[in-house]
Amino acid sequence: MIVTTAQLFKHAYGKYAVGAYNINNAEQAMGLFKGCIQSKAPFIIQISKGARKYTDKRMLEAIIRAASVIFPEAIFAVHLDHGDEETCYDCINSGFFSSVMIDASHDPFEENIAITKRVVDAAHAKGISVEAELGMLGGVEEDIKVEEGNACLTDPDEAKDFITRTGCDSLACAIGTSHGAFKFKGRQSLHFDVLEKIKALVPGFPLVMHGSSSVPKEEVDRINAAGGAIAGSMGVDPNEYLPAAKLGVTKVNIDTDGRLVWTRVHREFFRDKPGEFDFRPPGKIFIEEYAKFIASRNDFLGSSGQLVDLRTSLGK
Ligand code: G3H
Ligand code: 13P
Ligand code: ZN
Repeated sequence: MIVTTAQLFKHAYGKYAVGAYNINNAEQAMGLFKGCIQSKAPFIIQISKGARKYTDKRMLEAIIRAASVIFPEAIFAVHLDHGDEETCYDCINSGFFSSVMIDASHDPFEENIAITKRVVDAAHAKGISVEAELGMLGGVEEDIKVEEGNACLTDPDEAKDFITRTGCDSLACAIGTSHGAFKFKGRQSLHFDVLEKIKALVPGFPLVMHGSSSVPKEEVDRINAAGGAIAGSMGVDPNEYLPAAKLGVTKVNIDTDGRLVWTRVHREFFRDKPGEFDFRPPGKIFIEEYAKFIASRNDFLGSSGQLVDLRTSLGK
């Protein structure tokens, strides 16, 4: 069942965070649905602009609709990840997305407000939720690259002003994370101080954490042992997901870790079976491994086991 992110956040707020996972193909969709059903967790499917272009945006839609028939118990939102204004309108008018992210965080503050407000008006007219972003994460987001030193944390006072003036449903805040596999050189904690200040100013308002992959060392080591060359890096400690959830983070974005699972499975498979050329055997392994990974993240997020109570609270 497709619901809005606002509906998911209402149930999760202050108790747990909902995992938001990016998908690009059928194998990821199968692994994601399986893992969330195994762990009895609600979830958010994220579709980036790049994912919509990878095959064809209609292909992803068909895959997700099929998955929801195969797994009728699933409760999830379909969300545009890092949308520009034009892509937001395309998704709002698609009749399929239940949530969009307008990312005008690279524009000046007033411009970000104006763009976000236009998208909120269009989305709310159709009952669709809107996530906006304030502050800048480090790392790479499709066509935009922010150097680590330029990543600036969200200003709590600005966040309050921004939320009031735009009417957005959730806000992605920069609290020290960045996108991709190369986040921190050493162990680094989230900026809980910033979260605390934002929560105090906008109690009950759902916050979003981007760049939340943990970049597991065992995964990177296995990839490198199978011919990869991913330099050592550290991600977010997954033990910090739940403390962040208690401070109002209701959505935790994880994409890179899933790509690492894919890379490990395929590198190891073809290393061990150099004569193999059928992509289905490693594809099947990937689906199972991705499902296991998703269930483990849902455990860290506290979303595991929430499905029954959520269904009751939705009156379904
Ligand atoms: O933040 C970006 C997400 O990881 C999606 O990545 O734009 O390469 O699909 P992508
Ligand atoms: P990661 O690169 O840490 O997985 O972050 C994904 C993300 O924020 C998608 O919007
Ligand atoms: Zn992101």
